Amino acid sequence: MPASSRPAFPSLSAAPGAGQPAAPLAHPLIREAQPADAAVLAPLTAASLRWMLADDQAGRGVIRIAAFDGDTPVGLLLSCAAGAGLQELTSIMVTPGWRGRGVATMMLSRLTARLRRDGARGLFARWSSRLPRAAEFARLLAASGWSQPEVTRRRMTWRIGDWPDVFPNRDRVLARLERNGLVVRSLRELGEDGISEFKRQNLALIAAGRAPDWADMTGWVEVADPDVTVVLSDREGTVAGWMACVLQAPLGRWYIPQGWVVAEKVPQGWLVGGIASLCQRLVAKAGPDAMLIAQPPAGVPGGMERMLYRHFGTRTASTDFLFESEYALAEPDRTEG
Ligand SMILES: CC(C)(COP(=O)(O)OP(=O)(O)OC[C@H]1O[C@@H](n2cnc3c(N)ncnc32)[C@H](O)[C@@H]1OP(=O)(O)O)[C@@H](O)C(=O)NCCC(=O)NCCS
Repeated sequence: MPASSRPAFPSLSAAPGAGQPAAPLAHPLIREAQPADAAVLAPLTAASLRWMLADDQAGRGVIRIAAFDGDTPVGLLLSCAAGAGLQELTSIMVTPGWRGRGVATMMLSRLTARLRRDGARGLFARWSSRLPRAAEFARLLAASGWSQPEVTRRRMTWRIGDWPDVFPNRDRVLARLERNGLVVRSLRELGEDGISEFKRQNLALIAAGRAPDWADMTGWVEVADPDVTVVLSDREGTVAGWMACVLQAPLGRWYIPQGWVVAEKVPQGWLVGGIASLCQRLVAKAGPDAMLIAQPPAGVPGGMERMLYRHFGTRTASTDFLFESEYALAEPDRTEG
């Protein structure tokens, strides 16, 4: 039977009425997928995310939920750990003939049940203003009890070799800031003891409310590139900022997952100084053709998003906005019936 002619899922309203033949109720098997399923599931996600199908590194917390009609996959959900007890819903897809029958809802429900067992705090999803069918996705989340989507980030991608055109005085700016007291060190330059001290000061700034919760670098220090990730401090070693940079090898790009500079140092140009140093180091490490992507939170006064957009917004290879929606696992799970 072609998928498009299958009956809907069993529900009270779908129960056969008296005198009618009982319709066969087909529904796919929902289960966690394993790396062995990778080849058959590959068509159900973007090429850039296929690495997640075979990833088995515990630290990355990849969870794959698939829906199968017999041996045929009809739905796939991918998600990965995002730090601080949060999990990101990275991709969800149902094959066209199976849409509108609750498959995505069931996969989400399976994911939330698993995360709750694991003790996770919550789930979030980010998607581009350019996502085709964004409305269907937003409605799926709303129907599953997720928060109202909000534009939270502006995403910008550059070829790093294009920056000198808009930032011709980069090296002079950095040299002047360094004369005035800015000290920029990569993780490699900090060494093991320096990194421990940085982690301590990073958490102390968050605890003191001088940096937001999401600026916790504990997890990023392990995976960030040690030559390109920079820590900003004064000459006494008091940390006032940082910018993480990670090579996303499967996507062929460098990513700034987060960065922060304490408010009083922003007017002194430390945000620009940090990015100037990161950019120098990235060119040295990866050459001018390296692609750099950042998706800083929108709406932080004097923050990274405004600085990057103001200085480099005209040179992006692409720009879009990211919507975000959350699901708190501490609340009753409205997707589970
Ligand atoms: C978004 C998607 C995963 C939904 O899968 P699905 O199995 O059809 O979803 P469900 O049947 O569980 O429906 C859940 C809710 O989604 C919404 N929805 C589903 N199909 C929809 C449609 N064609 N138009 C608008 N809303 C729709 C509805 O609100 C529905 O709840 P309701 O029936 O109670 O109103 C599916 O449409 C899809 O694969 N789209 C393409 C890939 C994509 O855009 N993924 C999201 C970004 S990674």
